[in-house]
Amino acid sequence: MASLGHDVVGYDIDPSKVDQLKAGILPIYEPGLDQMLTDVLAKGKLRATSKLAEAISDAEFVFTCVPTPQDDDGSADLSYVIAASQAMKSLLKPGAVVVTKSTVPVGSAQRVEAAIDRDDIHVASNPEFLREGAAVYDFQNPDRIVVGARSADVAQRVMDLYAKVECPKVLTSQPAAELIKYASNSFLAIKLSFVNDVAALCEAAGADSREVMRGMGLDTRIGNRFLEPGPGWGGSCFPKDTRALASIADSFGLQIPLIAAAIASNETAHKRVADRVMNALGGSLVGKTIAVLGLTFKADTDDTRESPAISVIERLIGRGGKVVAYDPLVNKYDLAGLSLADSPIAAATGAQALVVLTEWAEFKSIDAKEILSAMSGKVVIDTRNVFDQKTWETTGATFPSTVSPRTI
Ligand code: UGA
Repeated sequence: MASLGHDVVGYDIDPSKVDQLKAGILPIYEPGLDQMLTDVLAKGKLRATSKLAEAISDAEFVFTCVPTPQDDDGSADLSYVIAASQAMKSLLKPGAVVVTKSTVPVGSAQRVEAAIDRDDIHVASNPEFLREGAAVYDFQNPDRIVVGARSADVAQRVMDLYAKVECPKVLTSQPAAELIKYASNSFLAIKLSFVNDVAALCEAAGADSREVMRGMGLDTRIGNRFLEPGPGWGGSCFPKDTRALASIADSFGLQIPLIAAAIASNETAHKRVADRVMNALGGSLVGKTIAVLGLTFKADTDDTRESPAISVIERLIGRGGKVVAYDPLVNKYDLAGLSLADSPIAAATGAQALVVLTEWAEFKSIDAKEILSAMSGKVVIDTRNVFDQKTWETTGATFPSTVSPRTI
């Protein structure tokens, strides 16, 4: 928002985050964000404070970006959203618009209105569609911006903040905006579960899944994005949001079985990778060492929350294996049976199998010969299709299938 020219004041209950931001230090890795932060701090467009009144008493718009973690029953826990609303209640200036950025279930805007309990304050929903690792790009090049409010006038005022961003702009109601977010994430998760199921079928039938996905993606109704098979999807959004959507449907007494099926398919995808490693190593992982490349839930982020890589590693360890992993941005992870190495070659040395679980670009240039000669086995399982399989095979690697391809 500061990069668009607005005067922004950031507030957090954690003073150390505020101090870091003031000093131009980001608490996360996000490509391009450090430069953007330096620019807006230098221009005086972004300030930070640990005093709530200082942050919001003059603000025309207050964006709440607090977490909505998972409750025990899968529903979203709104306690931070409500606590933030109550904390600002008496400080907001008349006419201010409170804008929810946090991913919240349908009906939350009304709960925020009730928590603020003031007729002179408006509440709008402006869901976030940024991907981790591509957040700056997505902010500047969004597919769409969605704003939901009770009145078109309030929705338009919020949308005007994005006047400099060119893209389709959707003005809608509060519940529609809230549902667009969950439905989008859940649809993408369903798409990926289907992609991973079809990729498994491709393998069984001796078809190259990349060719199948390319052929599917050329149908513009399907689209060529989000068709990369992998070890399963993860991260801080899809797992949480799919469970939350299932719980929202449940609260309305509705059955939406596709969501449950996508979640179950994703569990199967994690298990399938572990099965493939075990079968390739003779049916048992006991006493075996497996090298893993990648721990984050996808490339270009330092985030390991609900990472499919971790889920696969837990299964490998659970079946008696020992895992040595390398990730460009993770140098600490507490899990018995897992140790971290500081390079791909260090991870691979002495390992019976090499498993790629995150699609870091640097893995593409790994020297196949060097890695294979350091390993004690030749099994390579590349769940993200980062290696050039032919080059690796000519240096002696074997890329085992989960099942023997049937001759067609
Ligand atoms: C997701 C959505 O894509 C964003 O639009 C949304 O704003 C965000 O959640 C959120 O709710 O905050 P994110 O979780 O950062 O973004 O990551 P994605 O790029 O969507 O990837 C999610 C998972 O799907 C990762 O594990 C990734 O490796 C996997 N994936 C993605 C694939 O396996 N194949 C693909 O083709 C694409």
